[in-house]
Amino acid sequence: MNESFPKAYLTRQAVPAVLERLRPQCDVHINPEDCTLPREDLFREIKDTIILVSNGPDTIDAELLESAPDLKLIANFGVGYNNIDVETATRLGIPVTNTPGVLSESTADIAWGLLMNVARRIGEGDRMIRADAWPGWGPLQLLGADISGATLGLIGLGNIGKAMIPRAKGFGMKVIYWNRTRLDASDEETLGIEYMDKETVLEEADFVSLHVALVPETRHLISAKELNLMKSTAYLINTTRGPVVDEQALVSVLKENRIAGAGLDVYENEPLVDRGLLPLENVVLAPHLGSATVGRRTKMGMLVADNIEAFLQDKPLPNIVNPEAL
Ligand code: 8YV
Repeated sequence: MNESFPKAYLTRQAVPAVLERLRPQCDVHINPEDCTLPREDLFREIKDTIILVSNGPDTIDAELLESAPDLKLIANFGVGYNNIDVETATRLGIPVTNTPGVLSESTADIAWGLLMNVARRIGEGDRMIRADAWPGWGPLQLLGADISGATLGLIGLGNIGKAMIPRAKGFGMKVIYWNRTRLDASDEETLGIEYMDKETVLEEADFVSLHVALVPETRHLISAKELNLMKSTAYLINTTRGPVVDEQALVSVLKENRIAGAGLDVYENEPLVDRGLLPLENVVLAPHLGSATVGRRTKMGMLVADNIEAFLQDKPLPNIVNPEAL
């Protein structure tokens, strides 16, 4: 620690390479526990923090920001920044940065893994074997759904949604999409995808994969009405943010087999998971693993360090999300 440097507070650990970059320039303090920092500790730490490195589970709201007179930069470790009250940060003149572009492929990999796992019932089979309950091969055992030749419906077409397209094409799937802004016809043609309204995507797809950011308009974008539009043989995949789906409505449709299944990496009230999901065989549950590879977490940390360095050197912040704060 070097107290003549500006205090940087990290609410969670970072890989050593990132710390090595920060330590010669900042007085680095890190939450010593391997868990989300309790709110009272965040209040205490933020009082004299100049640079805050926040993580998805931290709620950086107006009350907290207004209690941080020295705070000059929030470098969020994550591409999504719905955990931060950006409007208040902007009003207080605090720039917020994120880590875009480095985790699209790994998040699409997790979406793809969930899709394959739930469609081919790998988790169910794994549980059967571990319970010592496998009677041996059976012609009608754990029959799942075909992936090749099926239709993938993308709801949202940002970087992660786009990264789903080559995966789907590799499996010989038809790809349809809905996005707030439609692509140009020539881009649709190049990508080999077809635009439809949201309702039609839900009705037509065999796999619906969600890729919208969480903003007020996308909270419960998928609730009972939308789930009921889906085919009874279709699957829902969510790797974006839990509150995009009404989790209770999802439990109901899964319980009643009104859709075939779901693959989830995110939950409405993480780390709490609706208890109703736990006994269901037709859902695969992952613990928010979208960017969880050594390579991605290192790249994300390096982007955080790039933004901090730019701030310290009074250079333009490469990943600022609220330029109007400056
Ligand atoms: C992060 C994520 O791991 O980047 C995001 O938006 O959801 C994850 O990849 C998470 O935000 C932790 O801070």
